[in-house]
Amino acid sequence: MALKLFSVMIFLVLNVSFSKAALDVHYYDRTCPNAEKIILEAVRNASMHDPKVSARILRMFFHDCFIRGCDASILLDSTPQNQAEKDGPPNISVRAFYVIDDAKAKLEQACPRTVSCADIITIAARDVVTMSGGPFWNVLKGRKDGRISRASETITLPAPTFNVSQLIQSFGKRGLGVKDLVALSGGHTLGFSHCSSFQARLRNFSSVHDIDPRMNIEFAQTLRQKCPKPNKDRNAGQFLDSTASTFDNNYFKQLLAGKGVFGSDQALFNDYRTKWIVESFARDQSSFFREFAASMVKLGNFGVIENGEVRLNCGVVN
Ligand code: HEM
Ligand SMILES: *[C@@H]1O[C@H](CO)[C@@H](O)[C@H](O)[C@H]1NC(C)=O
Ligand SMILES: *[C@@H]1O[C@H](CO)[C@@H](O)[C@H](O)[C@H]1NC(C)=O
Ligand SMILES: *[C@@H]1O[C@H](CO)[C@@H](O)[C@H](O)[C@H]1NC(C)=O
Ligand SMILES: *[C@@H]1O[C@H](CO)[C@@H](O)[C@H](O)[C@H]1NC(C)=O
Repeated sequence: MALKLFSVMIFLVLNVSFSKAALDVHYYDRTCPNAEKIILEAVRNASMHDPKVSARILRMFFHDCFIRGCDASILLDSTPQNQAEKDGPPNISVRAFYVIDDAKAKLEQACPRTVSCADIITIAARDVVTMSGGPFWNVLKGRKDGRISRASETITLPAPTFNVSQLIQSFGKRGLGVKDLVALSGGHTLGFSHCSSFQARLRNFSSVHDIDPRMNIEFAQTLRQKCPKPNKDRNAGQFLDSTASTFDNNYFKQLLAGKGVFGSDQALFNDYRTKWIVESFARDQSSFFREFAASMVKLGNFGVIENGEVRLNCGVVN
């Protein structure tokens, strides 16, 4: 009995000391007190010139954390020996890397070798949400940057054709539950999609339906006009919600009306496991904001590595 208790205690001690790095709201309080101010300024500067920056940074954070955890693997450039995540297939709108580089350059002046690129992405993702009218939350910091980035791993991201079972599984692998899935999908309150990500819903959808039957018919007509066939404009597409530069709960209201752009969005309203959550967020924006912030913190904890480095240049390993 005593032995058993002892081994349980050993296990707990080991478990604590070998568990992932503990993140802390105050991580840079002494070493780089202006870190968050500098990052916010870089994000603000860029957004003033380019309103697309907010959506791109939010999506960057999601992709970074879903592949190898939140380790800034998405920022590494390809090398002759290695094709990086950046150059993997779903990179079509993950841009705005220059904003992170800009913040990093300023941070290296203010406090050299201190603030990781992974923390910069995480803080910037919070900033773009708050700046767009969404919630504010305190970001836990102390992530380290990874040394590996592989284009081939981007196929592990969820696809816009996924059904709810597939989405639950994909998020579950990252320690995220059903409520996190619905809340984080609300990130589609910002931004834009190219036709290629949803046009299969508009024509010859299945053997029995020309248009995805879950889609509002007028909305489908609008999307068909934006994505004619054949489509010569590679930049053509649709905003993900009708207020695409404002962070609000409009995305969920659109799902209720059959106006989700991706099959994976609309599926959330058409599956009993997630429908009630969509309805509650559509009804109550403040509950969406609360849950979104909580889920962003959870996503930001995923796959945090301890044996990483603080990159000097976010595009290359030290
Ligand atoms: C649930 C699974 C998800 C799927 C299947 C998905 C898929 C996609 C796709 C296909 C696009 C459009 C790419 C393009 O054609 O340009 C997109 C855009 C976007 N996604 Fe997601 N996404 C998911 C979850 C998330 C999450 C969790 C976030 C952040 C919290 C997010 C944030 C964004 C943003 C902000 C954009 C717009 C990017 C821009 O305007 O440049 N997505 N997503
Ligand atoms: C933001 O822009 C101002 C004015 O152009 C510039 O002085 C400042 O260095 C920029 N800050 C960052 C972090 O990029
Ligand atoms: C996306 O990846 C392709 C290779 O798959 C690459 O040619 C292209 O430059 C990348 N685009 C961006 C914006 O990084
Ligand atoms: C979801 O999609 C997978 C893969 O296409 C399929 O095997 C599964 O039956 C689908 N599940 C539901 C509930 O539709
Ligand atoms: C629709 O899809 C079926 C097979 O799924 C194909 O045989 C048919 O040619 C397609 N029709 C059009 C108009 O593309």
